[in-house]
Amino acid sequence: MGNVIIRDAIAADLPYVAEIYTYESLYAYSTFETEERPLSDWEHKLDSGDPFLVAVDGGQVLGFAYASPFRDRPAYGRTREVSVYLHRAARGERLGSRLYDDLLPRLVDAGFHTALALIALPNKASVKLHERAGFELAGTMREVGDKQDRMIDVGIYQRML
Ligand SMILES: CC(C)(COP(=O)(O)OP(=O)(O)OC[C@H]1O[C@@H](n2cnc3c(N)ncnc32)[C@H](O)[C@@H]1OP(=O)(O)O)[C@@H](O)C(=O)NCCC(=O)NCCS
Repeated sequence: MGNVIIRDAIAADLPYVAEIYTYESLYAYSTFETEERPLSDWEHKLDSGDPFLVAVDGGQVLGFAYASPFRDRPAYGRTREVSVYLHRAARGERLGSRLYDDLLPRLVDAGFHTALALIALPNKASVKLHERAGFELAGTMREVGDKQDRMIDVGIYQRML
């Protein structure tokens, strides 16, 4: 993983981003999506103006992190939800931490007040990643996800920016 760089996502990255996310949607519970998302969803996200970063080795996208509005009510405007996903072959190499090390200062610079991460549990790697990045458990929503034949808790992790 020596030559991995973190940079802003570009349109050419989106098929790789979609592939990583589709795997999580279909075969894991880290996202509560259950189907493939159309590429146009990712294009809209890229155009949204919120930070959207990729970890890239050569031409290969190994993972991504982005911020998005938490909810669409105007008073939530200074809150952002953050998300991070890596390809299966790129985990455990601190790429998630590197993506957040770049993403979170951008939210500070943009004047956001707080960041939230919703983590479907259990997910030791994600909990550790977020705790290392300064997030704390604000509460747990019990059995809100129905996936892989079980009801899944979601931890709400929060960091003041
Ligand atoms: C969660 C995820 C982004 C973490 O990124 P990563 O680059 O693999 O994590 P890092 O290498 O930066 O490690 C972060 C911490 O988690 C620990 N960790 C990593 N994998 C772990 C595992 N499988 N079990 C327990 N701890 C683990 C690391 O040791 C490190 O802890 P430390 O700082 O105490 O040493 C990545 O594993 C991933 O994409 N998982 C699937 C998608 C997902 O769950 N996304 C998060 C949705 S909320």
